[in-house]
Amino acid sequence: MRLLSRLRAGLLASLTTRLALAYGLTTAAVLVGVAAYLSSSLGNQLQARDEGELVGEVQLVRHLLREVASEVDIRTDAHRFADIAMGHEGLVLIVRTRQGEPLVTLNPRNEPIPQINVLPVGVSPDRSLLQTWHPRNGVPSPGVAALGQIGNTGEAVEIIVLSDAGYRVALMREYRKQLLAAVLCGSMVAAGLGFLLARRGLRPLRRMAGDAAAVTTSRLATRLDVGSAPAELRELAGALNGMLARLQDSFTRLSTFSADLAHDFRTPISNLVGQTQVTLAQRRTPAEYESLLESNLEEYERLSRMIENMLFLARADNAQVALGARPLDARAELDKVAEYFDAVAAERDLTLSVSGVATVTADQPLLRRAIINLLDNALRHAPAGSTVRMAVSRARPGHTAISVINSGPAIAAESLPHLFGRFYRGDPSRRNSASSTGLGLAIVDTIMRLHGGSVSVRSVEGQTAFELDFPDKVVSRVGA
Ligand SMILES: Nc1ncnc2c1ncn2[C@@H]1O[C@H](COP(=O)(O)OP(=O)(O)OP(=O)(O)O)[C@@H](O)[C@H]1O
Ligand SMILES: [Mg+2]
Repeated sequence: MRLLSRLRAGLLASLTTRLALAYGLTTAAVLVGVAAYLSSSLGNQLQARDEGELVGEVQLVRHLLREVASEVDIRTDAHRFADIAMGHEGLVLIVRTRQGEPLVTLNPRNEPIPQINVLPVGVSPDRSLLQTWHPRNGVPSPGVAALGQIGNTGEAVEIIVLSDAGYRVALMREYRKQLLAAVLCGSMVAAGLGFLLARRGLRPLRRMAGDAAAVTTSRLATRLDVGSAPAELRELAGALNGMLARLQDSFTRLSTFSADLAHDFRTPISNLVGQTQVTLAQRRTPAEYESLLESNLEEYERLSRMIENMLFLARADNAQVALGARPLDARAELDKVAEYFDAVAAERDLTLSVSGVATVTADQPLLRRAIINLLDNALRHAPAGSTVRMAVSRARPGHTAISVINSGPAIAAESLPHLFGRFYRGDPSRRNSASSTGLGLAIVDTIMRLHGGSVSVRSVEGQTAFELDFPDKVVSRVGA
């Protein structure tokens, strides 16, 4: 039982055998239908012919009876009656007087003569008047009894003609056996051909599987050949290629990210190790230890900020950041951030200005985080004595624009495409700066993609402007 189910599971696991089986079974079903039709129509035809002959034989006997003169003639001419039965195997022909005295008896197998209704002289028998009798072989067969008249005397005698359907049934059984053998052979041939055709038809699929198997992390640029694939597989090949492209992109980003990550962790950690080693090299005063701890604390804070930022980016990449976007008063949000940065701006001799009024559809903490990151950069790069401006406007229908503008030297054109990349810092000297993680703008970019919006930068000599574009309808594009 278990072997059978395992065999079945094994067979059905292959598409080729499944198709071959389907071909075979469909052909078998069609052939069985055709065979059933043929055998039933042949059976009907044979039966009709047998019955027609039976009726004809009664008529013939009646005719012969009219030609003879008396019962005696019948006995002497019995062979003329016997001729009628020639060629009809198993046929029983009895002519007898009404008192039951036999005149002609043709009963090669000594069948018992059944009691059946006798048709009167005036009634000519037809197929509907045939009766059923049961020969010794048990196959119900047609028979007929009728009265006939002797020519001269007009005396009535009984004619009984019984045919044996056993021959026809045996013939049909043999015929059906042959048909069944033909159906079996035909179905097997169809299944075999189906197998070959399916194997041939599925060749492109096997080729595609081979191509796909050759894709490894070091060969992510490999693509499946869409052009030579058959139409049905082209869509699949295209979809797989799209998947490969996305995987390649994510894989490349992940590789660069982890390389940058290792690099960026190395700096604060080697600072910590270096400072601590130098301090421990000889005895120090408590003030020196305190200064070491303070300096270490800065690095710890930087590391913790980096980890926090990276966690945010990783969660956003995996669409794990829940976005509670709702309409907000953008001006109020800018004022709030400006107030928070007032002291820092004053310390650097900078003025903060906010202008414009508009509603923005955004997640409040994320919106603030994006503005803070931009303002933090602007305050850092604005020359002392200048003004850092923040503005909000309905730049185009369905969109709210928030910009943060500071004066200062232009950002190098070759840096612009990289500004929003992770760990990118325009000024290499800031690599070691404890306050920089190089993730600020990458986070702004991710926040904007979460909102279905975008961030852009324009930087010309004397002025740099970052602009956030928030659509009213939020459709996230994370991981894209
Ligand atoms: N307003 C600006 N003016 C000039 N350069 C800028 C400005 N904003 C950003 N940059 C450049 O873009 C780089 C990337 O900025 P980003 O905010 O991503 O990192 P960061 O400021 O160096 O670090 P973090 O924001 O994590 O403290 C900066 O190092 C700086 O070179
Ligand atoms: Mg920054």
